Amino acid sequence: MTHPDSFNPILFQRIANRIHETPHQRITFAEFMELALYDPEQGYYATNQVQIGVAGDFFTSPHLCPDFGELLAEQFLDMWRVMGQPEPFTLVEMGAGQGLVAADVLKYLATRKQSAEASDDYAAFWTALRYLIVEKAEGLIAAQQRLLQPFQFSPDKVQWMGFEQLPKTGIVGCFFSNELVDALPVHQFVVQDGALQEVFVTVDAESRSFTEVISNPSTGRLAEYLVEQGIDIGAGYEDGYRSEINLAALDWLETVSQKLDRGYVLTIDYGYLAPQYYSPQRLQGTLQCFRRHGAHQDPYAYLGHQDITAHVNFTTLKKQGLALGLTSMGYTQQGLFLMALGLGDRLVANNNTSDISQLNEVIRRRETLQSLINPLGLGGFQVLIQGKGLNEKEQSQVLKGLQMP
Ligand SMILES: C[S@@+](CC[C@H](N)C(=O)[O-])C[C@H]1O[C@@H](n2cnc3c(N)ncnc32)[C@H](O)[C@@H]1O
Repeated sequence: MTHPDSFNPILFQRIANRIHETPHQRITFAEFMELALYDPEQGYYATNQVQIGVAGDFFTSPHLCPDFGELLAEQFLDMWRVMGQPEPFTLVEMGAGQGLVAADVLKYLATRKQSAEASDDYAAFWTALRYLIVEKAEGLIAAQQRLLQPFQFSPDKVQWMGFEQLPKTGIVGCFFSNELVDALPVHQFVVQDGALQEVFVTVDAESRSFTEVISNPSTGRLAEYLVEQGIDIGAGYEDGYRSEINLAALDWLETVSQKLDRGYVLTIDYGYLAPQYYSPQRLQGTLQCFRRHGAHQDPYAYLGHQDITAHVNFTTLKKQGLALGLTSMGYTQQGLFLMALGLGDRLVANNNTSDISQLNEVIRRRETLQSLINPLGLGGFQVLIQGKGLNEKEQSQVLKGLQMP
């Protein structure tokens, strides 16, 4: 018998019912992933309260230390300065998890604005700042609201709204996400007899488990996407080659670009450019599942109790961005980005102590900061900054995080 902690039978039934409603008794892998992660009542993100963090299934940069959010705050301040200090400057954080980045950004800015050494800019930026959170999982919204309680004294400083409630156009500021795009549902494709085929999910009645069916693509957008990326699967891709296509990311960027009038889109995530992403040698794509800090490739295991992700194809974000009026301002790695924002100074701070207990603390802190920039780990994440509606002068200014560290 499957243990209830490792398999959610109610979620299984909900997905099975959805499959039975369809004419061909199957759903796309993208729909399966959407339901497994975001079914409003039973999905992984809806039910699992502690899945992100040291005690959970995976952790993200803000779980290591507040420095990630604090250095991001410096980048947001710099964007505001470059844009001529607009008021309001709206920061839209999409997919905020437990709200750690928001808490670290707001706490840092609130403290700096009171510090006598800090320039007046911190106080003026604080006044101009509106922080909007777009989050899909109700349970995480509740966790974010608990954490950000101290900042809700002024009704419009921090707010939560769905994409559909955000103004249709006219936002001035920055749309920001850390590890959102890898969590969007992806279509999976397979090369069969040299042709593009799609992975669908059905229910095996006998074993009461999900199985895959390979068939013609559910939408012409998959083939168009690959052509757009310069990928010809008829050439050099062997039968059985499998990978992912994130159509949801294209739709997400379109929504963001419509709502942003002037400012930036800052996307941090793990991923590759298209030639690496769709390298013929990467036979099994980039899909990964996380449970209790272990990674594996079986999305049907631990139903409702594991995260499912796919790497981000940054080429498509750049190309789709250009088509939508978003200019690429820079593309770098998290390690370089954070160093340019001042992580190096933090690494050497308090280095001269001779007190042994302090020394241990200094070493521990240095190791934590190193993890944010380690090129084999979080430091190897990609950072893409796109701009929209900026004038020539603003456009030509190299943002702080994109300068040589
Ligand atoms: C991998 S977690 C990252 C959380 C956080 N940014 C961090 O760095 O810890 C992905 C987050 O995106 C949210 N999410 C996924 N799809 C979303 C969507 N379409 N709109 C808003 N939030 C979404 C999830 O609920 C979750 O909070």
